[in-house]
Amino acid sequence: MGITLKTPAEQDAMRLAGRLTADVLDMIGPYVQPGVTTDELDRICHDYIVNVQQAIPAPLNYRGFPKSICTSVNHVVCHGIPGDRRLRQGDIVNVDVTVIKDGFHGDSSRMFHVGKPGIQGERVCKVSLEALWRGIGVARPGSRLGDIGHAIQTHVEAAGFSVVREYCGHGIGRVFHEDPQVLHYGRPGEGLELVPGMTFTIEPMVNAGKRQVRLLADGWTVVTSDHSLSAQWEHTILITPSGNEVLTLGAAERA
Ligand code: MF3
Ligand code: CO
Ligand code: CO
Repeated sequence: MGITLKTPAEQDAMRLAGRLTADVLDMIGPYVQPGVTTDELDRICHDYIVNVQQAIPAPLNYRGFPKSICTSVNHVVCHGIPGDRRLRQGDIVNVDVTVIKDGFHGDSSRMFHVGKPGIQGERVCKVSLEALWRGIGVARPGSRLGDIGHAIQTHVEAAGFSVVREYCGHGIGRVFHEDPQVLHYGRPGEGLELVPGMTFTIEPMVNAGKRQVRLLADGWTVVTSDHSLSAQWEHTILITPSGNEVLTLGAAERA
């Protein structure tokens, strides 16, 4: 479909969608506690997006997805469907939020620890966040998508973990998933050259064990084949003349 470069007005719309997305994640954090169900997290986010933000939760009915957010617990890699499972002490959970405001999408996810995490859970969450920021750190005009993928892959593999290859980041704007595909592995100097006005996500999925994944019979839930823990963080970014702007920073990081 081709890459859309956003005009200054469109960039402002992306900033607003990105900020609202981050606001949802800031809001839901305190609710991620032992005993809560992922359905309850979904309902709280849905009501906040619709009633407070007067925005649209993009996942709901997207290609048949039944809920307003994705919740991916422990060995679930991504696209977990909220349900009646209660979170337990020691779980790690990814909450992935995509908001549409004035026709533009913001997309971000974070890991949350339920109570006190185990050592492996804490480590895989930390390494995936660091990997995301390694990728963001090399995203600027003149660099290439392969530079982003390489920065992420190198960091993850040096930690002894693996990068999921079946799912990737994506261009984003009026369309939820648009070109280009942003792979989380790759070789420096390869792939599309970045230019100002591009908006895309970076969202590395990092497995504590092997990189292979399996799709469950519900058609959405992706799990690690070896049942190892998996973690993911996601930001939406804009390429600017001088580097990049992260559109989905939380309030604490925006300062
Ligand atoms: N938010 C996910 C992403 O980062 C996509 C979720 S699609 C859904 O691209 F249908 F599962 F919601
Ligand atoms: Co995304
Ligand atoms: Co997302």
